[in-house]
Amino acid sequence: MRDFYSTSESSVRLKKLCIKNFLSIKEACIELGKLNVLIGPNASGKSNVLKALRLLRNHVTVGLPTPDEDSPNEIPFGDLVHSFNIYETIEVKTTLELKGEEASYELRLLKDRYEEVIKKGGEVLYECSGKVSTARYRSRDGVIKEVGLGISKDVTVVLRSPEGGVKKVLLSLYASPLTIPPIDVDESIHVIIEFLRRVGVFGFNPASVRLSSNVSAEPVVKYSGANLARYLLHLYLERRRDFTRVEDVVRGLVPEVEEVIPHIEGNVVEVWLKSRDLTLPLRPGGISDGTIRLLAIAFILNAGFNVVAVEEPENHVHPNLLEALVDLARKAPSQVIFTTQSPHLLDYVNPEEVFIVGKVGSETKVKKLIEGSEAEVVRKFLKEGGTLGEAWYSRFFGDVE
Ligand SMILES: Nc1ncnc2c1ncn2[C@@H]1O[C@H](COP(=O)(O)OP(=O)(O)OP(=O)(O)O)[C@@H](O)[C@H]1O
Ligand SMILES: [Mg+2]
Repeated sequence: MRDFYSTSESSVRLKKLCIKNFLSIKEACIELGKLNVLIGPNASGKSNVLKALRLLRNHVTVGLPTPDEDSPNEIPFGDLVHSFNIYETIEVKTTLELKGEEASYELRLLKDRYEEVIKKGGEVLYECSGKVSTARYRSRDGVIKEVGLGISKDVTVVLRSPEGGVKKVLLSLYASPLTIPPIDVDESIHVIIEFLRRVGVFGFNPASVRLSSNVSAEPVVKYSGANLARYLLHLYLERRRDFTRVEDVVRGLVPEVEEVIPHIEGNVVEVWLKSRDLTLPLRPGGISDGTIRLLAIAFILNAGFNVVAVEEPENHVHPNLLEALVDLARKAPSQVIFTTQSPHLLDYVNPEEVFIVGKVGSETKVKKLIEGSEAEVVRKFLKEGGTLGEAWYSRFFGDVE
């Protein structure tokens, strides 16, 4: 079985994410660092930024531009496009730093097709559209070649009518050849695709993390945290040292935890926990919401992703643990993106790591805290002993406009 999450020493990093016409985002660009914290009120568009990353990761993984990796043949374009304007083009572009050089992967989504382009140093290395039966790529010896895309797939595209109704259209699309690229593609294409496949986006839900998984399932954790038990089993059986290392981290975070157990019964596996103060291990239903979420976050931050995005890590977690959680993100091998609503979490974050997300009318705006006009006011407040969380709570960050 392929080892999805084995750590790779990567000299590639995600520098920038630009999004156009996607959900509430008319246009936004964010320059990413090691730790990135998106803060903003409800419905400001934080999760929509992560959804854009997930769409792109799904596309390079399953070959079709779907928001939900488990339903690759359904594209709710009418809901995804900004203001339901189906004549617009959704665009998600990532800029990567590749051994000191700049490269980009761009995915565009229109109502009847997708288009994707890979560039390095301004030069096009690869181009494909779901409507055309061939893609063009640069081969290892520098020649531009064409590859046939095989048989097209039937995809249901969900559109919206101006009156609000839903219209389903059956489309025939060629899947991206990047899921299995031609063997002679330019090495940079491989590197970029491998990087983007190892982008993880998670919104852990305690009930999903508690679910049992089939032992024959792939050890891939779902967005909701479902299948974590299968991943833990994989780690326990095949990379015991990594398992023990993260188990130690969980023990440090939650003192009652003595052992994390991927418990097998028949052909199912579930997460059990041995608690310090109890004789028998806890089954999933007995583990607290905070503990199960911290466990999921600790393991996912160390699962070998290049970029890992976690929705509201503070949920169900005591404020005293947030410092350790931020520290864990800093030490993780991945670049980390957190969305948050918590001033307590912000207290342990540096101003350089913060992005303010807000709405102007129906449009999401994202700006880096230190680049805003109020950066000086915030700096002064911090110098006088205030915390970043207090500054946000007291609305020192101002508006996104
Ligand atoms: N197609 C669309 N066009 C424009 N805006 C949209 C579209 N679809 C959703 N939205 C907006 O996006 C909002 C949801 O944004 P998102 O889920 O990113 O918020 P959030 O900042 O994560 O909020 P929370 O803190 O509550 O999780 C919706 O409330 C809606 O206003
Ligand atoms: Mg959200």
